[in-house]
Amino acid sequence: MGAHVVILAAGKGTRMRSDIPKVLHRLSGRCLIEHVLGAAAIVGPTTVTVVVGHAGDAVRHALPADPSLRFVTQEPQLGTAHALLQTEPLFAGVSGTLLLLSGDVPLLTGRSLDRLLRAHVEARAAATVMTAVVDRPYGYGRIVRTGDAIARIVEERDASPAERAIREINSGVYALDLEPLFPALHSVAAQNAQGEYYLPDLVAIYRKRGRTVATVSVDSNEIRGINSRTELAEVGALVRQKKNEELMAAGVTLVDPSTTYVDADVVVGPDTVIHPNVYLEGQTRIGAACEIHANVRIADSTLGDRVTIVNFCVLDGATVASDARVGPFAHLRPQSDVRAGARVGNFVELKNTVLGEASKANHHAYLGDATIGAHVNVGAGTITCNYDGRQKHVTVVEDGAFIGSDVQLIAPVKVGKGAYVAAGSSIVQDVPAGALGIARGRQANIEGWAERRRARRSPEDPAGS
Ligand code: UD1
Ligand code: CA
Repeated sequence: MGAHVVILAAGKGTRMRSDIPKVLHRLSGRCLIEHVLGAAAIVGPTTVTVVVGHAGDAVRHALPADPSLRFVTQEPQLGTAHALLQTEPLFAGVSGTLLLLSGDVPLLTGRSLDRLLRAHVEARAAATVMTAVVDRPYGYGRIVRTGDAIARIVEERDASPAERAIREINSGVYALDLEPLFPALHSVAAQNAQGEYYLPDLVAIYRKRGRTVATVSVDSNEIRGINSRTELAEVGALVRQKKNEELMAAGVTLVDPSTTYVDADVVVGPDTVIHPNVYLEGQTRIGAACEIHANVRIADSTLGDRVTIVNFCVLDGATVASDARVGPFAHLRPQSDVRAGARVGNFVELKNTVLGEASKANHHAYLGDATIGAHVNVGAGTITCNYDGRQKHVTVVEDGAFIGSDVQLIAPVKVGKGAYVAAGSSIVQDVPAGALGIARGRQANIEGWAERRRARRSPEDPAGS
């Protein structure tokens, strides 16, 4: 049902008390306006236009570069009717339906938008208002009816005590027939407590002109608008709850959904178990039958199947293949690539590093800018010295190599296939395949030394400490 979508996003969002424009505040890993664009996309719009104003450039740049997205600037911001009026030149000679959305109403579903459009077309209405009945109508425009028909919308500040008691509210989402729209918008006056041009005034204008105005009522949670940090948190909790329910319905175990934080775009496979206080963020993808233990944060990372992440790990931009095990207390930084069946243990940090199939780095290591083959053992305390103060250098460890404990691999350096590096070595030259690289001071044992020392005890220090 082709409609022209317009999203209002020019307001400052004064009540957020923020330097960031309101529609760029984040909810479940996406900014508010991205949620709205997502809902709009579901109805297959003919065109999508965003009205920007306050920090308009920031809003433009925050959105994915999409050539089909049109922007119109509203400057200054004189109210929602004035905002929509700025799109008039774009719709000269265009007929059909304009679907008006608010950049600060993020929970709207495509299904409700579909219902709104259908009802609008069926009623042959000039305008159709999406409404909801809520327990706490404070702050919203109230739907004033005469009999069954909507007569007008009154804003909180302009409402009489009797009108304030009305619990049916305006969602700020409308289907509008383009033909009468712009002439009517020109006749909206700014005669109200805020001195702004109110879009909801269209309703009374149309009714006075004998035009049909319809309403469609939807679930009250869906049309929650965000005007303050409190509302951001409340709506955030709703989004999270909905996501968690979807995951559980798809076969994911959440040990404690109330402390599981999964962003909207995250995908999790069935039979994966997620323990309390886990954060799955951004574009994270987790396979089936994984176990994510408590207090783990995974951002923009991909996990295969049957992966175990033990407590207190941070993964950011990492890939972990099937059957691998990570943690506790591991840090996988961007471009960490842990291959199938590999093990990363406690206090191990990886950055831009491949840890090959079935290889192990189990204790206290830093592996950066390294390519480590399959079946390699990286001993406790191994460090790739990848940075010389100016440039990063690469370390290569080939299949089956064994790196002893407390080794520094001073890059650029390569350890060949099946080679050994002795514990405590500082490796500055390549170790050929099959060789032993050893680079540490030789040990000397001085016989009887301890006895002689004790004999030299001074009277001031009889313990010889
Ligand atoms: C608006 C409605 C109210 C409705 C509520 C639903 C008006 C006058 N009131 O109130 O009836 O119940 O939404 O959430 O429309 N904007 C602009 N330019 C402006 C002013 C606002 O683009 O000059 C944008 C804002 O960025 C925002 C949207 O319009 O995305 C709504 O503005 P806001 O100030 O939040 O309106 P509400 O007071 O919430
Ligand atoms: Ca609002």
